Amino acid sequence: MKKIKILAESDKMIINKIKEKIKIKSSRFSENPLEDYFYNNNKKYIDKWEHYFDIYHKHFKKFRNNEVTVLEFGVFKGGSLQMWKDYFGKKARIIGVDINPECEKLTEDQIEVYIGDQENRDFLKSLMKKIGPVDVVIEDGGHQMKQQIHTFEEVFPHVKQDGVFLIEDLHTSYWEDYEGGLKKEGTFIEYAKNLIDSINAHWTPEVEINSYTKTVSSMHIYPSIIVFDKGCFKGSKPVQSGICE
Ligand SMILES: C[S@@+](CC[C@H](N)C(=O)[O-])C[C@H]1O[C@@H](n2cnc3c(N)ncnc32)[C@H](O)[C@@H]1O
Repeated sequence: MKKIKILAESDKMIINKIKEKIKIKSSRFSENPLEDYFYNNNKKYIDKWEHYFDIYHKHFKKFRNNEVTVLEFGVFKGGSLQMWKDYFGKKARIIGVDINPECEKLTEDQIEVYIGDQENRDFLKSLMKKIGPVDVVIEDGGHQMKQQIHTFEEVFPHVKQDGVFLIEDLHTSYWEDYEGGLKKEGTFIEYAKNLIDSINAHWTPEVEINSYTKTVSSMHIYPSIIVFDKGCFKGSKPVQSGICE
């Protein structure tokens, strides 16, 4: 009898230690639910870079648990779609796009998958017609320059006011295998540099005011990622305060 009691006590200790370990593991990432999900993921495979999670959470948290439409280019094994579903919550509509027809079978409750080539503008046009306006875009597809530029140009106009377009893996703009190269014309990074001029077109007649001047409220540049906020700059005027001696 005594032996059984001692064993039960030691079992309790072991269970408590495991509980403590689990607590430590999950509280390690409690600041960022995406990181928490990713490092505890035992569902479908996800392929990301570790510094992305902070950027995602910073720009996406305002959409959580709302009726949002989230569009991700690049489905691969479907793991990131499941992560977005968990992160954005039960009211979210998650849409994946991939060129690989195999990805079609990764549809599930709340998750739709469309098959097509993101470089093809006609496909993108018909996709956006089908799915309607979106709140959040994550561009994680083929990472070739034309794919990225065509996707931005065809999809950004369909991002809702206050929505977000995040494009990742932009290091490919520097990599030859992806038609990249430092300051090479045609890369997404060079394209984005021109978009900085477009945002500032109000300040110089040398730059034409275009749709991006009117609809990109801000651009956030990170290593490998740019986040575009959809919004409207309503103009500005110089203002002063304080003592000028
Ligand atoms: C980096 S993986 C996506 C990873 C996924 N988002 C994740 O986080 O686990 C890139 C995907 O883009 C797809 N892809 C490649 N070229 C494409 C194209 N032209 N149009 C659409 N998808 C493409 C590939 O089939 C692949 O599944």
